[in-house]
Amino acid sequence: MKLILLGPPGAGKGTQAKRLMEAYGIPQLSTGDMLRAVSKSGSGLGNEIAEIMKTGALISDDIIIKMIAERLDDADCQNGFILDGFPRTEAQAAGLDRMLADKGMALDAVIELSVDVNALVERITGRYTCAKCGAGYHDAFQKPKIEGVCDACGGTEFTRRADDNEATVRDRMRVYEEQTKPIIPHYEQQNMLKRVSGMADIDVVTASIKTILDAVH
Ligand code: AP5
Ligand code: MG
Repeated sequence: MKLILLGPPGAGKGTQAKRLMEAYGIPQLSTGDMLRAVSKSGSGLGNEIAEIMKTGALISDDIIIKMIAERLDDADCQNGFILDGFPRTEAQAAGLDRMLADKGMALDAVIELSVDVNALVERITGRYTCAKCGAGYHDAFQKPKIEGVCDACGGTEFTRRADDNEATVRDRMRVYEEQTKPIIPHYEQQNMLKRVSGMADIDVVTASIKTILDAVH
């Protein structure tokens, strides 16, 4: 199963990718998570990336395309993968077409999670993750079963992203409208695009995506 999850910040790409990863036994390739890992490294490039991400702007296409091309060569990607947050520009979509053709791979589906813009700020400003295992939570919509304790690993420390404040979220949404939305017709023309409402309960969204994927694969 090879798929792209598309959608604005807070649409639920990461939340759904983690569930699909377990259901289909394929990795989640989140360019945001990869970049956050590089930015934590403290290297010169890492610091530059961290500064750009704080503003909500995009990292250069060359870096991103190279990062994904290398990752797709890994053994765990040969049976499938979930692209979360990539491609995000027309150049990245063209880059992905090229790298898939080179590797003899083809996409099964592109899922666009559509959401009400007003819900996104609330979703993002309430989001936090376990510092130990990265499991995602939300102050109102996805609390751990025991307050302050991660359901997945028992960790008790949590972190919030540096770009998860209202001002940056609004910039990220603008960037999505201007640079990412224009790639949607590319996948519509390939008859690849499926729209799923990301406004339903998390379990309902997962079930809708699985129904689509089971029909195309
Ligand atoms: P990235 O990490 O990809 O962030 P994003 O696209 O802004 O998306 P988010 O991770 O914020 O949202 P999500 O859709 O994953 O939502 P989630 O599932 O967490 O990118 C960050 C930055 O990295 C970019 O700004 C850019 O600088 C750089 N970057 C990354 N990729 C790049 C690329 N390809 N090119 C260039 N630069 C790149 O859900 C959000 C919250 O809502 C959670 O708390 C969750 O619990 C809750 N929630 C989810 N679903 C539901 C639901 N159905 N109902 C109620 N609550 C829900
Ligand atoms: Mg995410």
